[in-house]
Amino acid sequence: MRIPANKNLANKHVLLGVTGSIAAYKAAELVRRLRKGGAEVRVVLSAGGAEFVTPLTFQALSGNPLHSELLDTGAEAAMGHIELARWADAVVVAPASANVIARLAQGRADDLLAAVCLATEAPVAVAPAMNQQMWAHAATQDNLRKLRERGVHQFGPAAGDQACGESGLGRMLEAADITRHTAELFDTGALTGLRVLITAGPTREAIDPLRYLSNRSSGRMGYAVAQAAVEAGARVILISGPTALATPPRVERIDVRSAQDMHEAALSRAPGADIFIATAAVADYRPAAPAQQKIKKNTDTLTLQLTRNPDILADVAALPDGPFTVGFAAETEKLLEHAGEKLARKKLDMIAANHVGEGKGFEAEENALSVFDASGVIELPQAPKTQLARQLIALIAERYHPGS
Ligand code: CTP
Repeated sequence: MRIPANKNLANKHVLLGVTGSIAAYKAAELVRRLRKGGAEVRVVLSAGGAEFVTPLTFQALSGNPLHSELLDTGAEAAMGHIELARWADAVVVAPASANVIARLAQGRADDLLAAVCLATEAPVAVAPAMNQQMWAHAATQDNLRKLRERGVHQFGPAAGDQACGESGLGRMLEAADITRHTAELFDTGALTGLRVLITAGPTREAIDPLRYLSNRSSGRMGYAVAQAAVEAGARVILISGPTALATPPRVERIDVRSAQDMHEAALSRAPGADIFIATAAVADYRPAAPAQQKIKKNTDTLTLQLTRNPDILADVAALPDGPFTVGFAAETEKLLEHAGEKLARKKLDMIAANHVGEGKGFEAEENALSVFDASGVIELPQAPKTQLARQLIALIAERYHPGS
């Protein structure tokens, strides 16, 4: 299969750390893909990694000498840990075993890979690979949270059958996915000069002056998308329903309450936008005639007549010369079918389908997305929403600038 060059990877120095996991064999394919993409690759093989794949394999595939010893005078003279740390434009640890994740979280410097990770100013990413119980253990999750808080990127893991015969989360992502995520580390200014309009959070539909109908949306995904878009160089307007979140730096925020307010705010700004991303959980219905005064409990039953709210996303997508439109679909079942149907019905350019439930979706820190457009589907596996948002923005930028 032909592996295309990638403008983000061209001439980049990628330092690949390979640690002790059965998935180490996939790192060989990763070296090949990174090089085909245009990157120069050096491999640091940990002692554990060397139990699974021979140094010679990586030496041959990377076209560079292999690095493994921290305190080998010969090796250090050729390229010591500080020089390697400076050489790297990115450090990718794949596979990252539970052990190396724990050691990186502790800030250890007692082997070459750990020392390089500590000494480098380049972005560091880990692609976890381990048994699903080890993955789920609170210690591993704590260690990864620590690393993420320090800005370490996390690629995957994926779910599926494992070498140990079990099945679950903990499989390392495929080499093609890790290559794509590595290229995304070098994304700068993918949306420079573009105006991005985003809706986020829930809406509140008044029943009377004190009560409303709403939903469990926290707004986190939309705020993360707004932040990622600003980081990619866009000018961002965030139309937000009521949330408890702080406005991301450099984002212009417009607060609204009801779906009708959000509709008005979005439709008035959409003609000036290049990209419209609808992450809001807009109430589909509102009370037809909200009471002017507080409703008293003087009857045994109470019937609320509801009326349909306008569809903000569909109306923006229908604008002549309107922006590139991206919808979200929160689904609990038949994800592919429902999201595909929404893409076509609302005439969108792209739709990101949320898997709601099981610690994902509403009110959760993490999510997973299936992103559809006319060319098919790309899976963004479970990850913190901030990281998913960056990946989604990279995909949107790629589709918005076709062929670049
Ligand atoms: N949306 C919108 N205005 C609405 C309703 C939804 O802009 N009145 C947007 C959401 O922000 C999201 C997408 O449309 O991007 C969701 O589509 P929708 O068909 O409303 O999905 P669900 O609410 O999940 O609807 P369904 O009941 O069909 O599953």
